[in-house]
Amino acid sequence: MRRNIVAGNWKMNKTLQEGATLAKELKTALTGKTVNCDVIICSPFIHLTAIHETVKDSQVKLGAQNCADKVSGAYTGEVSAAMVASTGAQYVIIGHSERRAYYGETNAILKEKVRLALDNQLIPIFCIGEVLEEREAGKQNEVVNKQISESLFDLSAEDFGKIVLAYEPVWAIGTGKTATAAQAQEMHAFIRQTVAGKYGTAVAAETSILYGGSANAGNAKELFSNPDVDGGLIGGASLKVETFLPIAEAF
Ligand code: PGA
Repeated sequence: MRRNIVAGNWKMNKTLQEGATLAKELKTALTGKTVNCDVIICSPFIHLTAIHETVKDSQVKLGAQNCADKVSGAYTGEVSAAMVASTGAQYVIIGHSERRAYYGETNAILKEKVRLALDNQLIPIFCIGEVLEEREAGKQNEVVNKQISESLFDLSAEDFGKIVLAYEPVWAIGTGKTATAAQAQEMHAFIRQTVAGKYGTAVAAETSILYGGSANAGNAKELFSNPDVDGGLIGGASLKVETFLPIAEAF
């Protein structure tokens, strides 16, 4: 179902103790407050159990940043979707551009990860987005279409309906260079239209599409006011309550 979502992607930041403290601070800051969005923390794997204990009875939800493309077995260093789910986490980021670029995650691998996440009742936050050269060549729609169709379009409409999409232009991630509200809206509308082409307008209308890439308290309101932007995937600004909470309050 389409929802407003503000999700923090901590990436490889915070020790266990620092992460536990931040989660507690966020929970406290939200206590007694009503925000018009789901607030999600996506922490490193080792933080999940501790943070789940902290946030389980609050409005803060929890997710991982990745999961393995295999069920279980001899895959040293990997963490399966079932393991993520067993911590109490409900979400998992899949296909972040840093995973695609630095760890060779292809559309085919990501398709496996999405399948396993869904098999384990996790909600995938599936990331898509073009690099700068692709945008400069006017190929952003083609790139995003390929990412979505190759990883997701074998899903049933019912399963697709469980997925959250996150459009993150790679040139905007961690660069301070946000897509303009108009650029975000244009791409989000294209994504929704792509989903409609495959699954119909009802499924497309119910899909949450988040924007990510240098989103912050200063630009969130304008980004979120677009009809097809349903929230944000927030990196740098999610690492402190005072920079993260105002983004959730922008709705
Ligand atoms: P950023 O990262 O907000 O630091 O640009 C967003 C993301 O990569 O999810």
